Amino acid sequence: MSILIKGGRVIDPANKIDAVLDILIENNKIVRVANDIKTQADSIIDVTGRIVGPGIVDMHVHLRQPGREDKETVATATAAAAKGGVTTVLAMPNTNPAMDCAENIRLLKEIISKDAKINVLVCGTITKGRLGQELSPAAILKKSGACALSDDGCSVDNSELMLEAFKKARQAGILTICHSEDKKISGKGVINLGFNSTRLGLRGISNESEYKRVARDIELAEKAGSFVHIAHVSCRQSVEIISKAKKKGVQVTCETAPHYFSLTEDALLGYDTNMKMNPPLRSPEDLAAIKQGLKNGTIDVIASDHAPHTENEKDIEFERAEFGVVGLETELAASITELIDTKFMDWSSLFEKLSFNPARILELDKGSLGQGRPADIVVISAEKEWLVRKNELTSKSKNSAFLGRVLKGMVDYTICNGKIVYKK
Ligand code: DOR
Ligand code: ZN
Repeated sequence: MSILIKGGRVIDPANKIDAVLDILIENNKIVRVANDIKTQADSIIDVTGRIVGPGIVDMHVHLRQPGREDKETVATATAAAAKGGVTTVLAMPNTNPAMDCAENIRLLKEIISKDAKINVLVCGTITKGRLGQELSPAAILKKSGACALSDDGCSVDNSELMLEAFKKARQAGILTICHSEDKKISGKGVINLGFNSTRLGLRGISNESEYKRVARDIELAEKAGSFVHIAHVSCRQSVEIISKAKKKGVQVTCETAPHYFSLTEDALLGYDTNMKMNPPLRSPEDLAAIKQGLKNGTIDVIASDHAPHTENEKDIEFERAEFGVVGLETELAASITELIDTKFMDWSSLFEKLSFNPARILELDKGSLGQGRPADIVVISAEKEWLVRKNELTSKSKNSAFLGRVLKGMVDYTICNGKIVYKK
């Protein structure tokens, strides 16, 4: 099976390419990227005027399977991913049961091999049951196929245990991803602490609850000589702390999500629970710092933090509603709208954040359009606008922070391992 993708503007930061070129795919691999390839192919796709980039590698996705198939499944999430231009996801381990032993990972991998429409990688937990009490067997999880370890949704409060976790992760050669939050500070907060939390009468989550824990996690990783990746960075001080650590040579990387550079706490003024996530939407000053962090390289990755919840869990009083928003279908368009259309960043930098850097951090042979690489490709009509509508979302849950907003950039094709997994 061969596909020839003709005449698109090919963006490949790994090979410093931004030019009109053709891409030839044979079986599941890219075999040539060149000007005006003349060959017989089983199918020829003319993509003149479109953007062609490496498929998105989204390293923060909650698939909810096993345990909460009413929210999302491997099948529905990967269909949503394909529609959003995503070709690889890292599945967060806060499932039921959690991904804290070889057997649970094996069972999830069975489901993935049956149901997944794109590449799905599994993240194991740092501690058993994500309870922060006892370490999961890092080396065994890695051997079972876990690509990283995280207690996402929770932080490990016990610093001695966390130091031990970093040491074990280093020995096993596996990345640790930190949800950095000091629950003693964030407590029962539900939105950003500030003028709006007072005005709305809702308990606040301070920047401090995030950045103090970011600082601690980096310090412990440094002590252990281990890599650390900080998940969903939302505030200015976290960006500053990570920037300083990077300059000092600490092996730290981090991600943010599209809602943190698209929306501020003002989106909460209508008590919309689809704007409720953890960490929360912050101030305009924080949003500006997140954007600068993306631009100057402090923030390596854009990930969705796709966190599906049912209507029953969202359509209730604000304080009782679950934290989290879906994002697989909107992350690319939201990024184009906020970062490309405004000329804040160029295409190459955007694909670095969405595809190349996450692949590099997870040590995957992906995120690039180089010869011999797996054919994971997204084709985009960059100028096309679309309205985000609830009943047009593929994801089983509809809790998007972008509902009712017009976004720019529409996925025309998603190709994963040489197969067209989505076509508009
Ligand atoms: O908003 C969030 N939702 N933040 C998290 O850290 C966890 C996630 C979830 O699993 O729903
Ligand atoms: Zn988290």
